[in-house]
Amino acid sequence: MKKQFKKRFPENFDWGAAFASYQVSGCKNTNWSDWEISPDRLKVIMNEKSEYYRYPLDNYICGDACRHDKRFKSDFDLAKKLGHNAIRCGSEPAKIMPAKGVIDAHEIDRIVKMALYLKALDIKVYWNLWHWTIPSWWEDEGGWESPRAIEYFTSYVTAVVKALVPLGVTNWITMNETNVFAKLSYEFGLWPPQLKDVAKMEHVTAALAEGHIAAYKIIKAMCPDAKVGVAHAFGHNEITEDTPEQRAWKEKGDLDWSRYFIDKITDYQDFIGINHYMRGLYDEKKKGPIFNDLGWEMHPRALYDTVMDVWNWYGKPIIITENGCADRKDSRRGWFLWESLLWLHKAIEDGVPVFGYLHWSLMDNFEWAYGFWPRFGLVEIDRENNLKRRPRKSAYMYRDIIRLNGFNNELAEKYWEAIRYPKK
Ligand code: BGC
Repeated sequence: MKKQFKKRFPENFDWGAAFASYQVSGCKNTNWSDWEISPDRLKVIMNEKSEYYRYPLDNYICGDACRHDKRFKSDFDLAKKLGHNAIRCGSEPAKIMPAKGVIDAHEIDRIVKMALYLKALDIKVYWNLWHWTIPSWWEDEGGWESPRAIEYFTSYVTAVVKALVPLGVTNWITMNETNVFAKLSYEFGLWPPQLKDVAKMEHVTAALAEGHIAAYKIIKAMCPDAKVGVAHAFGHNEITEDTPEQRAWKEKGDLDWSRYFIDKITDYQDFIGINHYMRGLYDEKKKGPIFNDLGWEMHPRALYDTVMDVWNWYGKPIIITENGCADRKDSRRGWFLWESLLWLHKAIEDGVPVFGYLHWSLMDNFEWAYGFWPRFGLVEIDRENNLKRRPRKSAYMYRDIIRLNGFNNELAEKYWEAIRYPKK
């Protein structure tokens, strides 16, 4: 008799996708939109030797991206059709606070409509407050380096929370990947404001921690039942041999990257949101053999190892707030998603309280410094055809996993082509 393959996720598991306001709707008065057209940035894009030279200039300008803010109803309808019962979306600080001391009533009204629409569809929302973009007027004063950063951030948070709590929004993500932001912008010199200054990176990280704690308190004061956390970039650092040298490498990597910010806020988080894309490997030569369109190694087991690390460090409930791959042809996404979810299931079997999985991303979007070419979407955006939305095959596979709340033989057979080990 054929062996039955049957796995189920916990009841009421949150299933869905994540995206960030700037990446799907754009915004013209931010540190990013200003940087995209700055002479320094253009120099890099126009330089034949740069990895960013590959595409025409408009690839690198976000503009209004996928116009999600105009099309949120049909986008949310689509998420519903694809079986999602949860979503991670958010607001744009520069739209809510277009000028110093100004809260835009029209934009508040728009996010209220978004939240009401999700409520009507019975999609649980994880509202993301800050995903890297800073209003230009605030950036001109130094962004998170400004002595008034916490004041600006908390006025923004207060306005959004006041508008959405009465509608029943109780799940909040204050900040996205503060580690990626602080390192790439202030230490590695890659993102605006392109600095290479460790002291500034440390200063900004401390300000972000303060901002998170202040936001946590604001949300809890308005809604004591709220669940508040952050979405953070975690990647398991893997050693190849258990030697003191390799152990020291791992510990340093964990502390510098994964733990540096989180250790500052441990008493102020109800859950931890894990954003996971790849592992760190002591011996880089052992990477592969499957890579995504960005050249990032695809190694689904690393999701399990990462969840175990985070659970061992912090002992808090976990939700996967991002996990996915750039795969324009959708030739590896099905396999990656299926395998990653199997490993996530194993973490749950091993006792970790994981309560949700939000794939990155619902739709193809503006992939920051790379621009539009990397395609992370379950749904393809046809940029040549009025931004038409077209679900990829893997989106239907994901829908069926959600419907079943797990896996079985029939599903494996139905999607065999999509889930088998990809050709290199
Ligand atoms: C970010 C997303 C980004 C994704 C893929 C994460 O670091 O939070 O905004 O699009 O990774 O690069």
